[in-house]
Amino acid sequence: MIAAELPGEWDVCCHRVVERFRSKKNDVYRLEVTGSAGHVFSVVGKDFRTAEACRREGRLLGALRDRGARVPELFHCGDSSMIMEYIRGPLLLDVMFGDRALQHIAGLATALGDIYGALDDMEAGMILGDMNLRNFIVREGVGDIFRVDLESVTRGRVEDDVGRLCAFCLSYDPPFTAHKRRLTASLFRSVICWLGLDADVTKLATQAELSAIERRRGVEVPGTIRRAVDRW
Ligand SMILES: Nc1ncnc2c1ncn2[C@@H]1O[C@H](COP(=O)(O)OP(=O)(O)O)[C@@H](O)[C@H]1O
Ligand SMILES: [Mg+2]
Repeated sequence: MIAAELPGEWDVCCHRVVERFRSKKNDVYRLEVTGSAGHVFSVVGKDFRTAEACRREGRLLGALRDRGARVPELFHCGDSSMIMEYIRGPLLLDVMFGDRALQHIAGLATALGDIYGALDDMEAGMILGDMNLRNFIVREGVGDIFRVDLESVTRGRVEDDVGRLCAFCLSYDPPFTAHKRRLTASLFRSVICWLGLDADVTKLATQAELSAIERRRGVEVPGTIRRAVDRW
């Protein structure tokens, strides 16, 4: 069931769901909208489990975007659903380790710098919380990186976010390859340098998330990986 309503002031003649995105928590889909003049465009609808989660994400999207961070424009926020700009392009997860990996690392460092700057401007000590690479989209044509999913924004240290990000990068399927190890080391260096983070605290956070991944997935992180992280 689709709950999201288009803004009342939009002059549209019809809309339909053309794609459902993979989502664990919510119902997220792309709507193709046909305006009364015949033009067709896409927006994203997101139905939340709770009204509070919707309100919170709506507030954050607006505030971050006003401060220049790359997040989708919010078009309409209802009781427990919203309509936002559709960011066309691949998930960072699907391209992070490909041909343009170094460009994506630079793009991610830039995007994170803007997001943390904006969060800090709103309230000191806020972080993203959920650093899954499915929450980042590489904008088609432009190549800059947008963040979606602000539900897990919480208080904490940026080093914890970045440590989590590095641990996820190392362990995405196929996990712990030499290629992922090299790229994640580059990601670590670029991000801590760009954001001015404490390297040791970020390494500890990476190791802690690797231990959490071991418990969650019942796998063992190879000692070579643990030692490589220590040497970063
Ligand atoms: N504005 C958007 N533009 C394009 N795709 C989006 C947008 N928002 C969400 N998505 C897609 O929907 C997926 C789930 O959205 P997300 O906000 O992360 O919801 P969840 O809280 O369920 O994880 C994302 O991984 C992405 O593929
Ligand atoms: Mg998500």
